[in-house]
Amino acid sequence: MMDIRALGYVVVESTDLGRWEHFATRVAGLGVSPSASGENALFLKMDDYAWRIRVVQGAEDRYLCAGWELAGPQAFADAIRELDAAGIMWRRADAGQCAARRVQEMLAFTAPGGLACELFHGMVLDYLPPVSAAGSTQFVTGYHGNMGLGHIAAATPDLAASHRFFTQVMGFGQTDYLHLHMSPDPADPGQGLHFLHCNNPRHHSLALFESATPMPGNLVHLMFEVPDIDAVGAFMDRVHAHGVQIATNLGRHTNDRMVSLYVVTPAGFMLEFGYDGVQIDWSTYLPTRSSTTSHWGHRWGQG
Ligand SMILES: [Fe+2]
Repeated sequence: MMDIRALGYVVVESTDLGRWEHFATRVAGLGVSPSASGENALFLKMDDYAWRIRVVQGAEDRYLCAGWELAGPQAFADAIRELDAAGIMWRRADAGQCAARRVQEMLAFTAPGGLACELFHGMVLDYLPPVSAAGSTQFVTGYHGNMGLGHIAAATPDLAASHRFFTQVMGFGQTDYLHLHMSPDPADPGQGLHFLHCNNPRHHSLALFESATPMPGNLVHLMFEVPDIDAVGAFMDRVHAHGVQIATNLGRHTNDRMVSLYVVTPAGFMLEFGYDGVQIDWSTYLPTRSSTTSHWGHRWGQG
């Protein structure tokens, strides 16, 4: 199985890079990367990594893919063998693309269930702070970024196939299975969510959400974590100041204990912004099954 270390980056398509730059730097607290550029894209950074979000100019506003970080060249070569054995078609980024993106090697493929993925290793750490108009926001990304940028929750029409691929080929570990009943109808079968971790202490780097209805880019949300409630409060003030649409009020999640709120990004998917997420020692962990998302709050449509 692959040795995926973290959610290294996320790629978004945008009809208006200026709108994304405004949202990312004025509201989310990211900085424009001083060390990665080109390819008609906006590179945004949050920590020591050269960049964490790549926004490419395009015809639609949507999520494109996640970049999963491998430990090094050997893990990258092993991952290629895993993809070949699983019958997955992949394509390698050329030298120019790797140089622009400040990585050693990179490849792209589409996982079962339709989730676009990239694999890479060796992104340059420029150790530059994310300077933004919102001030200097610190993000929880581990030691020199080794916990990755946060997590994503992605929709899949075939939860079983996606779960099988991410656990058995990509090597993700099971953290929690949540079965949700969103309607009071007893005949409603409900929906399942798998929360999966990779090789870092973050509770989950990927959540897979069962959804028969396709969503733009199949992304439900992207999560950024900050160190304390004051950084969440400052974000809430910026959300109000810039008229950003709020999707939920503040709440505490049950399984990862994150205190967070959700807002709508210019690409249509949500950004979860929170603090106090649990970090786990996987050697002693038992996967859980749960039936509710939140201890309190996270009410939809409430600011
Ligand atoms: Fe989340």
